[in-house]
Amino acid sequence: MTILRIDSSISGADSVSRHLTADIADQLGGEVVHRDLVANPLTHLTERGQNPDVLAEFMAADTIVVGAPMYNFTVPSQLKAWLDRLAVAGTTFAYLPEGPKGLVGDKRVIVALASGGVYADDNPFEHNKSYLKAFFNFLGIEPEFVEALGVAISPDARTEALGKAGSQIERLAA
Ligand SMILES: Cc1cc2nc3c(=O)[nH]c(=O)nc-3n(C[C@H](O)[C@H](O)[C@H](O)COP(=O)(O)O)c2cc1C
Repeated sequence: MTILRIDSSISGADSVSRHLTADIADQLGGEVVHRDLVANPLTHLTERGQNPDVLAEFMAADTIVVGAPMYNFTVPSQLKAWLDRLAVAGTTFAYLPEGPKGLVGDKRVIVALASGGVYADDNPFEHNKSYLKAFFNFLGIEPEFVEALGVAISPDARTEALGKAGSQIERLAA
């Protein structure tokens, strides 16, 4: 099994999402390809700059593990630049008369969310989980989520959030 691990946190070794993506990849086992979007950032999308290698790497992986810290209520711009390379009409989705159709299908996507506060799914400030769910659904994938929310509330809240996320990882790797 090939695992593509994507990290987008700017916080290096202190990053919650990097800790979670490492743990998920470890527990799943398999060959891991690691793309660090902070060490090696992608540029903003341009008409010419499509980076087909980024899409090929995604398509070649069986499982994709995505670290998604919440920055200003949504994904880091580093992660957005990566997502921008995945939505390619005719390859990963198609617009049909009856509506859009995802063409990717048979892949496992596991998203590791981290946020300082806690956001219910219907919170109007929540554009991280909801956005990533909609994005991968659009490609034909139902993503799974590991969530460490509220890590900035207090040291205890951080420990509790990491504990919950650890249990979620054990369950999805079982
Ligand atoms: C630039 C920046 C913006 C942030 N914006 C939010 C935010 O909008 N809502 C929130 O709950 N936490 C926010 N936080 C806190 C992070 O979500 C939290 O520190 C989380 O652990 C980030 O994931 P990481 O540890 O993998 O970097 C922000 C942190 C940074 C550095």
